[in-house]
Amino acid sequence: MVGPNTRSLIVFVALILVFNIATLCNGGSTSRYVRKLAKGDDMPLDSDVFRVPRGYNAPQQVHITQGDLEGKAMIVSWVTIDEPGSSKVLYWIDGSDQKLSANGKVNKYKFYNYTSGFIHHCTIRRLKPNTKYHYEVGIGHTVRSFWFISPPEVGPDAPYTFGLIGDLGQSYDSNKTLTHYEQNPTKGQAVLFVGDLSYADQYPNHDNARWDSWGRFVERSVAYQPWIWTVGNHEIDFVPEIGETKPFKPYSNRYHTPYKASNSTSPFWYSIKRGPAYIIVLASYSAYGKYTPQFKWLEAEFPKVNRTETPWLIVLMHAPWYNSNTYHYMEGETMRVMYEPWFVKYKVDMVFAGHVHAYERTERVSNIAYNVVNGLCTPVKDSSAPIYITIGDGGNLEGLANNMTMPQPEYSAFREASFGHATLDIKNKTHAYYAWHRNQDEFSVEADNLWIFNRYWNPVDESSTSASASA
Ligand SMILES: *[C@@H]1O[C@H](CO)[C@@H](O)[C@H](O)[C@H]1NC(C)=O
Ligand SMILES: *[C@@H]1O[C@H](CO)[C@@H](O)[C@H](O)[C@H]1NC(C)=O
Ligand SMILES: *[C@@H]1O[C@H](CO)[C@@H](O)[C@H](O)[C@H]1NC(C)=O
Ligand SMILES: *[C@@H]1O[C@H](CO)[C@@H](O)[C@H](O)[C@H]1NC(C)=O
Ligand SMILES: *[C@@H]1O[C@H](CO)[C@@H](O)[C@H](O)[C@H]1NC(C)=O
Ligand SMILES: *[C@@H]1O[C@H](CO)[C@@H](O)[C@H](O)[C@H]1NC(C)=O
Ligand SMILES: [Fe+2]
Repeated sequence: MVGPNTRSLIVFVALILVFNIATLCNGGSTSRYVRKLAKGDDMPLDSDVFRVPRGYNAPQQVHITQGDLEGKAMIVSWVTIDEPGSSKVLYWIDGSDQKLSANGKVNKYKFYNYTSGFIHHCTIRRLKPNTKYHYEVGIGHTVRSFWFISPPEVGPDAPYTFGLIGDLGQSYDSNKTLTHYEQNPTKGQAVLFVGDLSYADQYPNHDNARWDSWGRFVERSVAYQPWIWTVGNHEIDFVPEIGETKPFKPYSNRYHTPYKASNSTSPFWYSIKRGPAYIIVLASYSAYGKYTPQFKWLEAEFPKVNRTETPWLIVLMHAPWYNSNTYHYMEGETMRVMYEPWFVKYKVDMVFAGHVHAYERTERVSNIAYNVVNGLCTPVKDSSAPIYITIGDGGNLEGLANNMTMPQPEYSAFREASFGHATLDIKNKTHAYYAWHRNQDEFSVEADNLWIFNRYWNPVDESSTSASASA
């Protein structure tokens, strides 16, 4: 499971306090778990999780993501090394012997002195809802097979469970996070990934071989269920010193998104519908000011959301707007100032972000009354506002962000510097069950959980339903 060296780095210090820290200040609860701030080592390149599949030109780094607006298409991507080979995907419904096929495209790129393998992207379309599909890649040489289950028809009555992972990287802790997600008795059907994938940029010359190893590491999940991609700062890969001046080059060659389906002009911001949810993905590191393409797109996007069709409105971004950790404090502030009034007006249910390597959940708050002179600059409770979750605790090599602002602000309901992941289990148009899992616990343990009530159909105050806040 986990290297003994990692285990010894993780030190539990259960403070023997009669009262929770929460009782000493105005905000919610700061978990009593305090961990040593230790940098996690990346798994060495010869680790089991990075093994190259055997066979001539064997496809590796297989990954899937939603390929259209409604979930009837899937983008299948993989890398071949020896030669381009075929970009064809063969796929069929479980139990059927009628094989369908689709043809994709292949590309490659250079980054300083690194040359990528042959990167294939193929979109398969007209999928039947809620159906198990098998698919094969590597046609003509070494063939590898995988499967996925297509999402239910878009509509209010389809239950659906999302996994939530951010800032994953490829350390021993990252492997623990992924294992906990896989072993969680609440089975995620698709991952909402909030940015910062491989952390290859931490290596000399942003050694892109670490993009390849990351692709092999996560294949065990993302070849079987779509991960919905958000772009983070570790995807920027802007290194003019070595002549690399095109931001996001490795990421955009390797990870495609269905942005055209939502009339976006950039792969970094887009939206999809999946079952009962409308998911808007924003780009923290692309221009978002007034008149920019992202601004104009988002302005047109919110009025399109039909809560009768998709009751749940979820937004993903990398840099959080509400974060009471000292790390990256206020980095999301300028985007919040631009967009928060829309989030309240259109009653966004939940906002998930990463970037800060810790976990935090807020109350429903907004901070939209302020103008330059009125002094109303404190966030206030707002039943039309989203709950903001920071889930940048995937476990990358940079270690935990454990220096919180004190006292805990009132908007912060629960915070803890531990690695983990979360699940959002949408039950129907009024109720969803949310839970955060930390890596130190048994797979079934929920370290923070809450019934979430839909803002459009059931705007009841849920702040008292948290089990953990009183723990
Ligand atoms: C990663 O986790 C998997 C599943 O728990 C385990 O089989 C594997 O040995 C781990 N690899 C490393 C390098 O920790
Ligand atoms: C790229 O250059 C670095 C030093 O600048 C060197 O260590 C590395 O081996 C080179 N990689 C390749 C693939 O040539
Ligand atoms: C995208 O724009 C076209 C042309 O204006 C329009 O017909 C279509 O409905 C739009 N699609 C979405 C998802 O907004
Ligand atoms: C919203 O969705 C519902 C259910 O799909 C549909 O009946 C209704 O016409 C849609 N409303 C608008 C304004 O498109
Ligand atoms: C915690 O953050 C505060 C505010 O940024 C800073 O002054 C302090 O040095 C930090 N403490 C540690 C241990 O990093
Ligand atoms: C929605 O789900 C919740 C939680 O499972 C349940 O209590 C409620 O009765 C459901 N509502 C409907 C209309 O089925
Ligand atoms: Fe980040």
